[in-house]
Amino acid sequence: MRQSSLVVVANRLPIDDSVAPDGACEWRSSPGGLVSALHPLLRHTPATWVGWAGGTGPAPALPDVDRVRMHTVPLSSEDLRDHYEGFANSTLWPLYHDAVEQPEYHRRWWEAYQRVNQRFAEATAEVAERGAVVWVQDYHLQLVPGLLRELRPDLRIGFFLHVPFPPPELFMQLPRRAELLRGMLGADLIGFQRAQAAHNFAQLVAKVLDLPATDRRVGVGDRVVRIGAFPVSIDTAEMAALAGRPDVAARARRLRHDLGDPDHVILSVDRMDYTKGIEQRLKAYSELLASGHVKVRDTVLVQVAVPSRERVTQYQILRDRVEREVGRINGEFGRVGEPAIHYLTQPFDRAELAALYRIADVMAVTPLRDGMNLVAKEYVAARVDDTGTLLLSEFAGAAAELPQAYLVNPHDLEGLKQKLLTALQADPADVTARMRAMREHLHRNDIHAWARSYLSALDDGGSLLNHISTTG
Ligand code: ADP
Ligand code: G6P
Repeated sequence: MRQSSLVVVANRLPIDDSVAPDGACEWRSSPGGLVSALHPLLRHTPATWVGWAGGTGPAPALPDVDRVRMHTVPLSSEDLRDHYEGFANSTLWPLYHDAVEQPEYHRRWWEAYQRVNQRFAEATAEVAERGAVVWVQDYHLQLVPGLLRELRPDLRIGFFLHVPFPPPELFMQLPRRAELLRGMLGADLIGFQRAQAAHNFAQLVAKVLDLPATDRRVGVGDRVVRIGAFPVSIDTAEMAALAGRPDVAARARRLRHDLGDPDHVILSVDRMDYTKGIEQRLKAYSELLASGHVKVRDTVLVQVAVPSRERVTQYQILRDRVEREVGRINGEFGRVGEPAIHYLTQPFDRAELAALYRIADVMAVTPLRDGMNLVAKEYVAARVDDTGTLLLSEFAGAAAELPQAYLVNPHDLEGLKQKLLTALQADPADVTARMRAMREHLHRNDIHAWARSYLSALDDGGSLLNHISTTG
């Protein structure tokens, strides 16, 4: 078994088995913030990525991608149902996102979660060199730090949660709350998107495990576990370069022409997820059309909503409801050749996404709750001419970093309608000033800065940074 000095552990691999039959595979541009964030970082770094390749049955052997080895962990159909669709995406995901859908608790799911976390920990222990750095990602694998420390006390273990970490009132619902907290505390450093999440975590470990905790550190026996906020980001320069490419600019002109050269293009790009506020946004748009504040001929809405977690009932119900509503709105307000909403469910490559961002006069990012929301950051990075208005939910992690966006409470329908109109009518000088400030922030705080700050905290000022390319 080949071993690495840097191991990333995440439920999902950046490629899946469907793209690698003959070794000619590419990084999967699959929708999802975790892969989008880690891809530009690891491309230039010798490392191993331990993860699931997307199917069931025996683990496929995947070729290296750039300098990264793919080490696949198999999931059986029971694991898929009870770990991925069950505990991860029907218990933790809704619970961590303000319980906007009801979290479900089943003992069988918890057993699968433990079993799969154990398998990931064992796979990681096999591929990590002595003294290696292991970086465990996200809510699917919260037990891995603890399990791994038992197997390999020599490793330096980091954990990063890409989603929100909920307040104690919500987390306390979890039947196995103590075990989950203990699992995370196997890490040397636990990173969250926001300071509030680190605060929630500190309160919980004090209350549930009776450990001494501040918002920066937790005492666990003779160890100190550091905690803190490390807001994840994007490869800002790469997105800006892509958006500035002549072929992308030409594609953007073509897209705008195909949309009928309207005065205003509003764009939303989401995974089809109930946390993203798609239904609330459609309702607001529909009411603006009905009241005549927005006219189909002048304004078009492009909604990209790529299906996600399709076998989970709540996601199926959402998709049905969104598609019914889009059909209703187009039936009621569209004209021949002029739909009110252009609705697309396909995955797009990065260049096509960049072209879409370029044509969006208003980007509507209105999740009910979101750990960060990288789409908002990608949009800003792509606005190379400093134009464009970002309408951003207060409940996205990105709102803390981008206060110059038009911030909105997506639960407040009247407020949402009003902010959308304000964004459509914004003064160009004001738009440019806001966009410039947001772009400057993202140039300073890109994914490489994120990795630098996380890894130097994990290392406490040592030499870990040599493990990873953090300069782009
Ligand atoms: P989440 O992680 O919840 O999906 P984010 O906004 O943080 O939300 O990340 C979504 C990522 O998925 C972004 O990098 C975005 O570009 C990408 N993405 C979203 N929709 C598509 C699509 N239709 N095709 C390709 N990539 C997409
Ligand atoms: C979010 C999660 C990631 C996940 C992604 C896509 O970004 O934080 O861990 O990979 O959504 O979801 P999926 O279920 O397709 O992996």
